Amino acid sequence: MIWLIGNKGMLGREIGEQFAAAGIPVIASDREVDIADMSAIEKFASAHNPEWIVNCAAYTAVDQAESEEDIAAVINSDGPANLAGYAAKTGAKLIHLSTDYVFDGAKRSPYTEDDKPNPQSAYGRTKLDGERRIIDALPRHFIIRTAWLYGPYGKNFAATMLRLFSERSEVRVVDDQSGTPTYSLGLARNIVDMVHSDSDKYGIFHYTDDGETTWYEFAREIYTIARGLGMLAKEVEILPVTTLEYPTPAKRPQYSVLSKDKIIRELGFTVADWKTNLRAYLERV
Ligand SMILES: NC(=O)c1ccc[n+]([C@@H]2O[C@H](COP(=O)([O-])OP(=O)(O)OC[C@H]3O[C@@H](n4cnc5c(N)ncnc54)[C@H](OP(=O)(O)O)[C@@H]3O)[C@@H](O)[C@H]2O)c1
Repeated sequence: MIWLIGNKGMLGREIGEQFAAAGIPVIASDREVDIADMSAIEKFASAHNPEWIVNCAAYTAVDQAESEEDIAAVINSDGPANLAGYAAKTGAKLIHLSTDYVFDGAKRSPYTEDDKPNPQSAYGRTKLDGERRIIDALPRHFIIRTAWLYGPYGKNFAATMLRLFSERSEVRVVDDQSGTPTYSLGLARNIVDMVHSDSDKYGIFHYTDDGETTWYEFAREIYTIARGLGMLAKEVEILPVTTLEYPTPAKRPQYSVLSKDKIIRELGFTVADWKTNLRAYLERV
């Protein structure tokens, strides 16, 4: 049996749909089984004895985490540690999602799994701590770091831009942070395939869509494709701004392109160009 955790979140819901589409049965939970509570984990899981645990549950409010790092740590660090501890006892394999925010963004070429993390935000620190506690407790782990995730479910940059383009005549977007968007459907399909093939190539892996852009260029592409698809009634001016002009409580990495070489080579993941995936998303919503 497969246990999908966080199935009401942006990625978890997409993964749940892809398991269903592949005809693979799963048990699923979200807030009702608190991953920070070991007894809740044991109570729920013991009835099903999962061989695979896919953990999409997390505290993902990046800016809010700056003022409540302790709460973020309970979910992003204690939670994964509990799941790893449970899997270590039962023999289950654990897939856990992590983030590009574990890096400081000082590099100017794609981050590999061998690069040293140096998180600049409370969220990044709690996620890195979660990774380390999994590695300490469970050899059978797959930690997949992703970035700039968007999709049809939940809050994300693409959905926010579509809303702003319909509400405003001018939108300002940061143009000095580079990375790569990740469409939730591509990641979900790869994860389902990986579970289906019962992979045992454990470790840390990086995954995003292919290519490199800035938030400003990402916004422009959303606008161009959405206009072409007739989704936007009026013209909107999109203006590039600097991070200094658009301050946020949490510091983001200035550069966080991730190298996909390892996940393609070892886990057979397929990676599509970010613009191709963006079009597919916009045609879907
Ligand atoms: N979103 C991104 O851009 C991004 C980028 C890189 C990496 N990631 C990582 O990718 C993964 C999935 O992200 P996402 O955007 O899909 O997250 P999300 O939409 O915030 O979903 C997370 C889900 O986990 C639930 N949850 C929170 N605390 C829980 C707890 N203690 N026990 C059980 N469930 C709990 C949340 O419930 P509530 O909604 O009630 O809190 C929510 O339904 C996370 O590990 C995240 O760190 C995300």
